[in-house]
Amino acid sequence: MLDGKKSLFSGMQATNTLTLGNYMGALRNWVDFEDEYETFYCVVDMHSITVRQDPAELRRRARALLTLYIAAGLNPEKNCIYYQSHVSAHAELSWILNCFTYMGELNRMTQFKDKSAKHTDNINSGLYTYPVLMAADILLFQSDIVPVGVDQKQHIEITRDIAERFNTIYGDVFTIPEPYLGKQGAKIMSLQEPEKKMSKSDENANATIFLMDDPDTIIRKFKRAVTDSDNTIRSTEEKPGIKSLIEIYCIATGKTIAETEKEFSSAGYGDFKLAVGESVVSMLKPIQDEFHRLEKEKDYIDGIIKGNAEKANYYATKTLRKVQKKVGFPERIR
Ligand code: TRP
Repeated sequence: MLDGKKSLFSGMQATNTLTLGNYMGALRNWVDFEDEYETFYCVVDMHSITVRQDPAELRRRARALLTLYIAAGLNPEKNCIYYQSHVSAHAELSWILNCFTYMGELNRMTQFKDKSAKHTDNINSGLYTYPVLMAADILLFQSDIVPVGVDQKQHIEITRDIAERFNTIYGDVFTIPEPYLGKQGAKIMSLQEPEKKMSKSDENANATIFLMDDPDTIIRKFKRAVTDSDNTIRSTEEKPGIKSLIEIYCIATGKTIAETEKEFSSAGYGDFKLAVGESVVSMLKPIQDEFHRLEKEKDYIDGIIKGNAEKANYYATKTLRKVQKKVGFPERIR
């Protein structure tokens, strides 16, 4: 809770551009939170440097992600979209929380195990304490809910453990956050292996639609989507490829499954795939146009970056000061 209002925090790495899955499964639904919650969508550039980054590329991607969030419909006057590195309280709280986190807990984190297996030449301590920085992100804003994918659930659990430990010692300092996995909308599947979730790091370039893909690329990927040989457009578990395409079509057009099945009752897969591709092209076009327009509005975006960092800083500092006092740091002389 922040000033009597429920609060929401989510963080995202600017590793790559967003996918159709990120948009349909999460982002598109996030606008629903903006009235009921004080919302924070943070570009977690401090987390990004736990693996080696090209500096210019990291900066470019971070700005592109921030711009894309706005282009996709998050109103930056209502949702605090900002860079983690612009609010130093993240680092300061993270240090304090490190002193309340056991190595045994961090040793159990599956993301650390995966990432250290992948980057054997750079198993740095930032990678190890990554979950503690994430706990700081969430707890700074007294977050009630944290919309994340299931892969991040373990990190929310350790955040809760750290917060509860701290509260037990010092009284009620932190709101205990809940992961928000529910009604985030659809789970969008890979176009090549429809039993698998669509992922931005898929090695098969045809498996994933990126939000910034051009129309020809989108159509081509849908035309190559893996289906079955039955050639009837019907949504059933036995036909995961077609089921997923129907779902995408329904979200892109606002039609129901029944309407879609009826519309394509005498069509073959070829026609249907083309229609799905076209529906996604027209859904993404306004977002892409808005992105390109905003990219040129340098002063406007700079103003958002500055204003939102100030807002985030205001709330974050409030929590940080409380925590610093609790652990016994001397008060600031004003
Ligand atoms: N670790 C998250 C991811 O890789 C990103 C993240 C950082 C995050 N801090 C967060 C997500 C706080 C939710 C809340 O997806």
